Amino acid sequence: MSMQNTSRAEQPTRRRPRCELPADPAAIVIFGASGDLTRRKLLPALYELAAADCLAPRFAIVGFARSRMTDDEFRKQCEEALRTHGEPAGFDVGTWQSFGNSLSYLVGDYDAPEAYQRLKERLDALDREHQLGGHRLFYLATPPQTYPVIVEQLGRANLARPKDETSWTRIVVEKPFGRDLPSARALNQQLLRVFDEGQVYRIDHYLGKETVQNLLVFRFANGIFEPLWNRNYVDHVQITAAESIGVERRAAFYETAGALRDMMQNHLLQLVALVAMEPPAKFDALAVRNEKIKVLQSIRPFEPADVAKQVVRGQYGPGTVNGTNVAGYREERGVRPDSTTETFVAARLWIDNWRWADVPFYLRTGKRLARQVTQIAVQFRRAPHIVFRNRKLDPNWLVLNLQPDEGISLAFGAKLPGPELQIQTVPMDFRYSTTFGEVGASAYATLLNDCLRGDATLFDRADSVEAAWALLDPVLQDWAEAPAPEFPNYAAGSWGPPAAEELLARDGRYWRNP
Ligand code: BG6
Repeated sequence: MSMQNTSRAEQPTRRRPRCELPADPAAIVIFGASGDLTRRKLLPALYELAAADCLAPRFAIVGFARSRMTDDEFRKQCEEALRTHGEPAGFDVGTWQSFGNSLSYLVGDYDAPEAYQRLKERLDALDREHQLGGHRLFYLATPPQTYPVIVEQLGRANLARPKDETSWTRIVVEKPFGRDLPSARALNQQLLRVFDEGQVYRIDHYLGKETVQNLLVFRFANGIFEPLWNRNYVDHVQITAAESIGVERRAAFYETAGALRDMMQNHLLQLVALVAMEPPAKFDALAVRNEKIKVLQSIRPFEPADVAKQVVRGQYGPGTVNGTNVAGYREERGVRPDSTTETFVAARLWIDNWRWADVPFYLRTGKRLARQVTQIAVQFRRAPHIVFRNRKLDPNWLVLNLQPDEGISLAFGAKLPGPELQIQTVPMDFRYSTTFGEVGASAYATLLNDCLRGDATLFDRADSVEAAWALLDPVLQDWAEAPAPEFPNYAAGSWGPPAAEELLARDGRYWRNP
């Protein structure tokens, strides 16, 4: 760590992951291959892995979707996607040639058994041609309502079980994983009728972020912080995932979701689990996920009568973001003019265990906020006896900046130079960009790489998805029954509705706006 003033630096460039050993040869089947997620995230991530020699020398990617396309048209679409959404500077013609050759496309309806027969034949042929060892990875990048039917058809076509005892078959399921507890349970049951839990990889891209993984390293590879990481020293924890973008072109999806389902049920609660979990015995899927689920199950349930006091929802109106005038949510294309979808949510949680009793966790996330920032801020208790009377003392903060400007900062009081005893808060900063000059692989590349290697540590387990929904279901029910909220209640470019400030002010605390 070095002591320095925090000044904003240029955005770090992305460093490709380096793999000592490539993954097993495999066929990767992407359902929803003509969609946005495939274009913007999956293909760039797979290309990133290929360029870093993380994929096996022999692999095949099969795009499956309803749109009619030839193999060549699919390749063309992929090349465009890589040039637009990958790193333009990282586009290498040589890598593209071998990557492009691995791509093929299959058109089919998700509920048509004959399409899965063709898929099976294609996979068998690829296996023979490229000796892929029968390893298969299915990726569901389709609208969630198609998940059950794809899973069922994979089962019927005898594609869900490994081909033989030396091969593996895995399935990656994208969020949203259900829209409440009953639907998440039903989806888990459908999946587990056809696949074993060990084959299912529920993806939450936040867990693939370099800085999120660093949170575990920070906590469990250093002896100095863990003794302070509890109710004796921590006053409270704040987790902010603020976005300056609006709903963009996703209104059709977002209108059915809202911030609670879109961000809090998954990304924010996963961060809570990582901040609050006990040290796992090992860094493996079983031990880490066993500790995380205990946290989610220890969060005090919201009593229906209490929801309004513990959870704040908001929706942005028109405003100014980064100097540009922007429309309110209800004016966005595809949004109903009287929409009651929340674009902001803040909540206070209590974790009922020995480590965290009486330490509030405040969470907030929203669109069209003042700036894009994701951070975890831990405020420590004040010194028990104030030696410096009549001096203003700020609390100590430990801030983990997950994005952008990735790093960790510790705020403490220092004496201002001069004859008077004056105290000023100064930061002790670690910044990825200045220390390492670059950041690691993209979240999707990290997670796909883990999945190809059979490491589920950074994926969600059925019980943790269900525990997160169980916590939030009473909130959804309360909102469904309550009178329509008075939206919009915050201006685009602000830090959210006044009620979010009041949530902390009632406890004598305030949000630490970055
Ligand atoms: C997604 C949400 O899961 O996460 C989006 O569906 C959101 O609404 C996105 O914009 C934020 O991810 P990131 O990595 O940009 O913080």
